[in-house]
Amino acid sequence: MKTQVAIIGAGPAGMMLAHMLKRAGIDCLVLERRDRAYVEGRVRAGVLEQTTVSILENLGLADRLKREGLPHDGFSISCDGKQFRIDLAGLTSGSRVTVYGQQEVMKDLFDAAPARGLDVVFDAENVALHDIDSSSPSVSWTKDGRSHRVACAFIAGCDGYHGVSRAAIPATVISEHEKAYPFGWLGILAEVPPCSHELIYASHERGFALASMRSQSRSRYYIQVGLDEDIEAWPDDRVWDELAARLGPDADAHMKRGPSFEKSVAPLRSYVCEPMRYGRLFLAGDAAHIVPPTGAKGLNLASSDVLFLAEALITHNKTGSTSALDEYSQRALARVWKAERFSWWFTHLTHRFPTSTSLERKLQIAEMDYLAGSVAARTALAENYVGLPLAGELHHRPR
Ligand code: FAD
Ligand code: PHB
Repeated sequence: MKTQVAIIGAGPAGMMLAHMLKRAGIDCLVLERRDRAYVEGRVRAGVLEQTTVSILENLGLADRLKREGLPHDGFSISCDGKQFRIDLAGLTSGSRVTVYGQQEVMKDLFDAAPARGLDVVFDAENVALHDIDSSSPSVSWTKDGRSHRVACAFIAGCDGYHGVSRAAIPATVISEHEKAYPFGWLGILAEVPPCSHELIYASHERGFALASMRSQSRSRYYIQVGLDEDIEAWPDDRVWDELAARLGPDADAHMKRGPSFEKSVAPLRSYVCEPMRYGRLFLAGDAAHIVPPTGAKGLNLASSDVLFLAEALITHNKTGSTSALDEYSQRALARVWKAERFSWWFTHLTHRFPTSTSLERKLQIAEMDYLAGSVAARTALAENYVGLPLAGELHHRPR
């Protein structure tokens, strides 16, 4: 078997890249360890930057997103029960975000694949990368007990944080930067209308909480919990009571309670692997970096990575020049580091750390007060939240 680009992982990064390459006439094959229902069923991101929406529009994959996605011009921050608004559109000359679940994005990407001749191998086991530092790499896997191998010109490692691609790079040639946070997010989905028409991020003495949504009738809520928290210790009533306490009286007054149909705990991590390339292997999305979900940046970074990577592969395919491929890692990392900084900052502003003292809590409250009163501070938050521009990063990179 032969293809131009072997893509490992059919998450948002892998499937968006596959659509971009296919549209440009570049052959690719996507290898996914799980089945479609599993990938599509994972409840994860909910907020799309305009950049991500534009990518899906350009691919002709945004019809349902345009119909069902919820455009948001702002969100609220609540600090110990007192709320103020971040007017995203007003502070950024009109930029907004769109609430549309990652599950819906995946459904749209998968639904369109067969008609476009896009090959996705689900249930690919034992995926392994070979000769990535040579000019003729290949990828092998097994399926239904049979072995397969595809020869390719390039490999895109889009297989998430626990994938095999990054692990195939010799440890001596990469630097890893990591922080694991001493808490996680317990998230629920419930078939009840949201408590507010916009998201509410809450910093409370008892810990962080977030009120989000998937539609006018489906709510997504999160609370900060300890890492060793037993999910059985969080029956729905306790989750609702905790949300009410942390989100504050305004939100509580409008919060409709109901049975949750999804409940899980996700750990929080900041992580970057540099460079995002080794030989013929290019990493994209969570395979190369992780952000805590507080800034809603993970899926959006995966989108900008694969946009840069697709552009570089298409240029190489047209002209034979490798210069865009050679710049891929630096170009992607310039955006990644700014999103890492923003997500780290917003996490520190809004969460209670087990080691934090009364001084640190007072500083958080003072920073909230500053944000509430300063247009400059709110502008800095807003322009990061809606997504920094794609172009120009290389001009600002440190020498
Ligand atoms: P993944 O989605 O992890 O996909 C990788 C794929 O590779 C998977 O399908 C996996 O099965 C497959 N794979 C793994 N190993 C192998 C292998 N060995 N062989 C073959 N295939 C393999 N981001 C946002 O932008 N906004 C948000 O609001 C947001 N909220 C979040 C909330 C939560 C609770 C969580 C957990 C995450 C959130 N994120 C958010 C982050 C976002 O979900 C991820 O950043 C995004 O899924 C990354 O996409 P990806 O394609 O790089 O990786
Ligand atoms: C979500 O709706 O899942 C969501 C929204 C905003 C975030 C993280 C997750 O920052």
